[in-house]
Amino acid sequence: MSIENAIFKRKSSVNFSNENITDSEIKQIIEASKWAPSSRNNQPWRIIAVNNKSKKFSNLIEALSEENQDWTKNSGLILVFCTNEFESEFNPKKFLEIGFAGQNAMLMSTELGLETHPIWAGDEEKVKELLLIPNNSKVACLLVIGKKGDEKKLSKDLLSRNNKNRSRNSIEKDFNYDNWGDKF
Ligand SMILES: Cc1cc2nc3c(=O)[nH]c(=O)nc-3n(C[C@H](O)[C@H](O)[C@H](O)COP(=O)(O)O)c2cc1C
Repeated sequence: MSIENAIFKRKSSVNFSNENITDSEIKQIIEASKWAPSSRNNQPWRIIAVNNKSKKFSNLIEALSEENQDWTKNSGLILVFCTNEFESEFNPKKFLEIGFAGQNAMLMSTELGLETHPIWAGDEEKVKELLLIPNNSKVACLLVIGKKGDEKKLSKDLLSRNNKNRSRNSIEKDFNYDNWGDKF
């Protein structure tokens, strides 16, 4: 798959089968994350992989919002992207760098034929307690990954969410040349 295909094929899916993600797939996804850029190559991420064979999987699902539980419970793997421990003050730029690592993980997963969905609605404290994440680390986002499920098994609501029209603002709205407001 070309990078262009991976970018445009990726979507936030709610259609997962609960097949396991292999160790080799997990390694390829993490390797892609690892090569994200970061300021002074500080690599501020800590990524915790919880696959659906882990004893922690069901507790992790319970720490998410009810709306997210509905479909994440069918996934194969959840990657929890956290910051590495920070000494005194949290620098929000770490989240930006972790975002790059997350995007790499989504594109590599798409390349591997997997479905993905980044999420955050959930209880950070519960997630931290469950995964033994230290106090001076923050959870940036969770990435739900899995093999594609059978659409026929989806509830009406999930089916329509999965097939909804995806959209973006026009280039004219959000992009400028030279100055804020100058037409692209
Ligand atoms: C940081 C972050 C948090 C998100 N949290 C949730 C979430 O809690 N639940 C959910 O269903 N989708 C969540 N999403 C997915 C977005 O709704 C989705 O990316 C957006 O609607 C664009 O759709 P697309 O990913 O298919 O292009 C999140 C996305 C990001 C980047």
